[in-house]
Formats: sequence, C-alpha cells, structure tokens
Amino acid sequence: MEKNIAVIKGDGIGPEIVEEAMKVLDAVANKYSHKFNYTQILMGGASIDAHGVPLTDEALEIAKNSDSVLLGSIGGDTTTSPWYKLEPNLRPEAGLLKIRKELGLFANLRPAVLYDELKGACPLKEELTEGGFDMMIMRELTGGLYFGKRSTKEENGELVAHDAMSYSETEIRRIAKRAFDIAMKRNKKVTSVDKANVIDTSRLWRKVVSEVAKDYPEVTLEHMLVDNCAMQLVKDPKQFDVILTENMFGDILSDEASMVTGSIGMLSSASLREDKFGMYEPSHGSAPDIAGKNIANPIATILSAAMMLRYSFDLDQEAKDIEEAIEKVLKQGYRTADIMSENKTIVGTKEMGDLIVANL
Ligand code: NAD
Ligand code: IPM
Ligand code: MN
Repeated sequence: MEKNIAVIKGDGIGPEIVEEAMKVLDAVANKYSHKFNYTQILMGGASIDAHGVPLTDEALEIAKNSDSVLLGSIGGDTTTSPWYKLEPNLRPEAGLLKIRKELGLFANLRPAVLYDELKGACPLKEELTEGGFDMMIMRELTGGLYFGKRSTKEENGELVAHDAMSYSETEIRRIAKRAFDIAMKRNKKVTSVDKANVIDTSRLWRKVVSEVAKDYPEVTLEHMLVDNCAMQLVKDPKQFDVILTENMFGDILSDEASMVTGSIGMLSSASLREDKFGMYEPSHGSAPDIAGKNIANPIATILSAAMMLRYSFDLDQEAKDIEEAIEKVLKQGYRTADIMSENKTIVGTKEMGDLIVANL
C-alpha cells in the first residue's frame, strides 16, 4: 500500500516526537512492504516565523490533498513567547483551529487507557486501578466556544469580552452517531457529558443525543454533568466506556483523563470526519519547558500514528504491532521521565523510539 502523509512537526517538542513516529511508521512500512510518502508542511509558530501566518493556503492545500496528516504539536510559552503578542488570529493555535475546521474534522477520539505496566505512574489509589481502565473520549472538534464570534470592546467605560457558543442539531447528531457506533464495538456504554443544568447548548446536546440513542437500543446512555464527570474521572475511572462531549469540555476532561493513565505523554488522538481522512496528533501540547532536551515522551504521537494506520488506512494488524511493541517496551522496564517510577530504566525520546522499533 502506498499513502501520502502530510507531516506537521510543529513547535517545541513537536519535531522530536514526530521524528520518532515517522521512524516507527517507516519500520512498519518496511516490515509489510508499504510505502509512506511524507510531505512536510509548516503550521503554528514555525509558520509564523517563516511566513507571518500560522497556516498558509499552500500548506492547507497540501494537507487537503494528502491521505492523512500527522501532527506533533504547535504553540509556545503563552506568557513569554513573542507569538502571543500577535493578534489572536495570527497566533499558533489559530493555525490548528483553521486546519481542523477546513478539513472538517468534527470527531476527535482520545483514548485513555491505563497500561498494566504504568499503574505505578498513576496517581490514583491502587484499588481504583485494579484491572486497569480503557475509555474513549469523543470530543466534538469543530463547533462550540472555539468557533463562535469573539470580541473585546469597551462597554460603559470598561473592557468587556464576549465568546459566543453555539451548536446546531446537525453538529451534535453527527458526533453522537459516531460515539454510538464506536460504543457498539466496545462495551456499549455512552456517557454524554454536558452542563444542561445551566446552558442552552447543553440542553440541545442532551435532547439530540437522547434521540440518536434510540437507534442504538443495545447501548446504555447516561447523561452526566461536566463538573460531576471531572470528579468521577478521579473517583472511579473504570465506570467509563465512551465519554461523548462538546469541544471545550472534551479538551479539559481529556487532559484530566490522561493523567490518570500515568501521563499526558501517553494520550493519542485521531481527528476524523465521515470519510477515511484523518489528522493524528498527541493530545498534549508543545511542552516548551522540555523542548530540545530529548526527554519528551514520544508514545502519544507513536500511538496516534497507529491510529492513522487503523482509521485512515485500514491497516489493523500494523496498528496492533505498534501498540504491542509499546507494551513490550514498557514491560521491559523502559520509561521516559514523565512515566518514570521506582526500579525502571529511564530513556530519552530517541531511545524510546528506537526501542519501539526494535520490538516491532
Ligand atoms: P503542554 O501539554 O504542552 O504541557 C503541559 C505539561 O505537560 C508540561 O509540563 C510539559 O512538559 C508536559 N508534557 C506535555 N507533553 C509531554 C510529553 N510528550 N512528554 C513529557 N511531558 C510532556 O501544555 P501547555 O504547557 O499548557 O501548553 C504549551 C503550548 O502548547 C501552548 O502554546 C498551547 O497552546 C500548546 N498546545 C498545543 C496543542 C496541540 O498542538 N495540539 C495541544 C495543547 C497545547
Ligand atoms: C488540544 C489543544 C488545542 C485545543 C489548543 C492548542 C487550541 O489544547 O488539542 O487539546 O484546545 O483544542
Ligand atoms: Mn488541550
């Protein structure tokens, strides 16, 4: 199989972790005689520095014409980087939001899985992690607060900022269907997370999700308020199978879920639409605090590459090979600093990539 992949290394640790994911993809290609052609494009801070904008039309076109996109992470330190002195629509994150919207990637899958081997890195009490847990966070990605009208203007002698949040029935229905389809292949439970006790978008969310649920009689649907969900994630993460939620809540809850799996460095993601195209990126950011030190955990990005093989290319066995290689390396006792615990061997970003390749 031959595929064209647009690669966005991004900022901070982005280039380091993408390098490792490409190394693993190439090893898989080698093993199964596939060919992956990479075209690198710029986005985020790197694009601002080169072109003055976080995503050029040319780069977007290349992404659109590829079979999939592999992304590291973009952005800088939001308090010190000069990128954050620019107008909001010229900052690194604007590139990411634009590419998600332009490519129509409304369904963001963020699997939070506690590997047996990483129980020691999980901050929860031992009895809560017995048997591990495995949840899929389904985050709506092209609507809500992220894409509403914004303004900051003077009203009655002081500045007032507005961010509009909206959701249409269509936007809710398509992500809900996706979540139920995925639940059918898992443990048949959907927890829809909202704030229906306060906001209208959530009341509509709850109504539409309940309607969609009628087409999936085998799936148990439960509604949960987002504040309660944040608490339940650390109280009893095993209760969750599929968590279905809107853009902002999904952003926050997925970071929280990642930590109970041991580290944000383990949480992969796939951003999908109705066809096979997808963009694959770790859920974490560009970690400017550890960039260039060869200490970042590349596993979230490598797992995202595995999701690419599964969801965009239908290469299930190849995806499994990568996931199993990661498990083997963890079993052998190798850890990057973020998932380090007693009696384990600490390795760098590159070494972790090499070990995963060696176990393929
Ligand atoms: P972050 O996820 O970059 O970092 C939070 C903490 O987690 C840091 O201490 C960092 O060192 C650590 N961390 C993150 N990834 C790691 C990894 N792979 N291995 C080991 N440690 C890791 O979040 P932040 O500091 O809030 O944001 C930094 C920048 O990243 C901001 O500009 C933000 O906008 C951007 N960001 C980008 C994306 C993306 O490109 N998809 C996602 C989130 C944040
Ligand atoms: C993520 C990030 C992005 C988001 C930012 C960088 C725009 O936090 O992918 O989780 O909020 O979606
Ligand atoms: Mn986030």
